[in-house]
Amino acid sequence: MQSIPSPAQSDASAADLHSVDMETLGGFPNLPAMVRAERSSAASHANVGIPSLDQDLSLLHADVRESAQTAASGTEHMLAALRNIERPLYAVAEGRSTILTDRAPLTLDGLAGVIPAVRIESFGSSTFRKDHNLRCAYVVGAMAGGIASVDLVVDMAQAGFLAFFGAGALPLPAIEQAIRQIQARLSGGESFGVNLLHNYYDEKLEWATVELFLSLGVTRVEAAAFVSISAPLVHYRVKGIHRAVDGHIVVPNHVFAKVSRPEVATQFLAPPPEQLLAELVASGKITADEAALAAHIPMANEMTCEADSGGHTDRRPLSVLLPMMLHEREQAAVLHGYDQRGIEIRLGAAGGIGEPLSVHAAFAMGADYIVTGSINQACRQSGTAAGVRQMLAEACMADVAMCPASDMFEMGGRVQVLKRGTMYPQRAQRLYDLYKTYPSFDAIPAPERKKVETQILKRPFAEVWQETERYWMSRQPDEAERARSDEKHKMALCFRWYLGMSSRWARLGEAARQADYQIWCGPAIGGLNRWTQGTSLAKSENRDAPSLARALLTGAAVLQRRELAARARVRHLPSVVAVMSLSDAWLAAG
Ligand SMILES: Cc1cc2nc3c(=O)[nH]c(=O)nc-3n(C[C@H](O)[C@H](O)[C@H](O)COP(=O)(O)O)c2cc1C
Repeated sequence: MQSIPSPAQSDASAADLHSVDMETLGGFPNLPAMVRAERSSAASHANVGIPSLDQDLSLLHADVRESAQTAASGTEHMLAALRNIERPLYAVAEGRSTILTDRAPLTLDGLAGVIPAVRIESFGSSTFRKDHNLRCAYVVGAMAGGIASVDLVVDMAQAGFLAFFGAGALPLPAIEQAIRQIQARLSGGESFGVNLLHNYYDEKLEWATVELFLSLGVTRVEAAAFVSISAPLVHYRVKGIHRAVDGHIVVPNHVFAKVSRPEVATQFLAPPPEQLLAELVASGKITADEAALAAHIPMANEMTCEADSGGHTDRRPLSVLLPMMLHEREQAAVLHGYDQRGIEIRLGAAGGIGEPLSVHAAFAMGADYIVTGSINQACRQSGTAAGVRQMLAEACMADVAMCPASDMFEMGGRVQVLKRGTMYPQRAQRLYDLYKTYPSFDAIPAPERKKVETQILKRPFAEVWQETERYWMSRQPDEAERARSDEKHKMALCFRWYLGMSSRWARLGEAARQADYQIWCGPAIGGLNRWTQGTSLAKSENRDAPSLARALLTGAAVLQRRELAARARVRHLPSVVAVMSLSDAWLAAG
């Protein structure tokens, strides 16, 4: 027979309970007060006829002590009780067992643990939510080509979440139009952001994008693909910085830095580089006062640690990356004296989040906010084709692969994509191998050239070059000119035509090109699909991004409660899988 711990031996002693974060406890100042408050609330529930769990849970008392057969039905009651996240529960020693009840005990004697009410609004950093005017510390990362669409950004914002518009790969007029649409639809001051991608090849484009954001009053950017801090990014961060009447520094523009390496993180955790500030002052882009104040702030107050994700990724495990970045943040706070000056840097967790357990784990590891990507591409608001969303709904964790990226093709850059239902990963890899092996397209053996033209490009190389040349002449003529005299570069640009078009074909649902679809996606999609299996959310057309966010957070809240019950050694708890199984009520909750 299993020995039953006394409350004093239990992991969750009364002393532990007092140390639980007050916010998690729903603001109760101390345990006896909490117990008192709960007793009176239970009484008022009974008075107004709101169904109480008392009845169910008294059954549960008996069940836990009874046979295995009745314990199963006790598990059902416990499941319902744990899932009712607004109601606190108590783990109480009864005889040789520890049972779960929603009746507040009269004394602390025998109390082995409190399972507080958990609101989905209480996850993550409260200052993060406050500073960004959000209901929940839940962020939707940008997805290029408008896959993180105007609809996605607006719907998430109206539900109290933050989403970044996927400006990558879109021309400036399209980005401007999208921002204006978002601003027109978000008339209630809801927060939103836009992606700012570092452009390795084209600094002018990065400048123009920043100028556009500043002119339109975009105050949140998700800065990605930076390996070092660029002048346009500093310009964005520093523009408009000033001291308020009470003396504190006001920074109007927020940078959410997306990082996966410590050496990049340290640059975002530090103040803007002095030399760039001096250059910006010299060129008249910022004032000397702005530069002076900038020396006191970090480049970014929010830093998203991106683990194994869809798209560009270093594929680090979140369980290694996040702790590493927590160290970096601590070190930077000391080095730059942020703590003394009350400057906070919030860390976000991204990569692999697709079901409630990963949400729970990310917050438990210390994330101030979480970021999802792949799972939102599968939602009805995403700017990709319905057929692609369907393909995503059928994917498993292992249905993703790394393959060459169009933007850093020559350097061997890679992205994570869906491999199920498309030949893109193999075809892109073939083109990359040919590029590495031969000095020009003409140098490739004729049978291989033929295969490339008929099976991959599906048109003659010369025709692809004509279109490619036109494109580069309109954007960056020096690239086209270089390709005219450099056959290897010409081959790279033509192969990049295929890599670039393959994303577009997928977004537009070009049926004739389905085998070439390039669909950025990480293993998180497999987590989502496994979790939603057999529910209404298994179908792509039912996937609504804000409802999904709420369901994920609710599931994480239930898991948090189960964990506390387990720590208090409550017996016969429902399994982790049972407590997080998707409930339609979670989806319906507003
Ligand atoms: C289809 C797709 C496109 C993406 N495009 C971008 C992008 O343009 N810019 C960016 O910063 N991140 C991009 N990401 C990364 C997401 O913003 C997010 O950080 C990432 O997807 C989170 O990891 P997950 O895919 O495991 O959820 C993209 C991700 C996906 C799935």
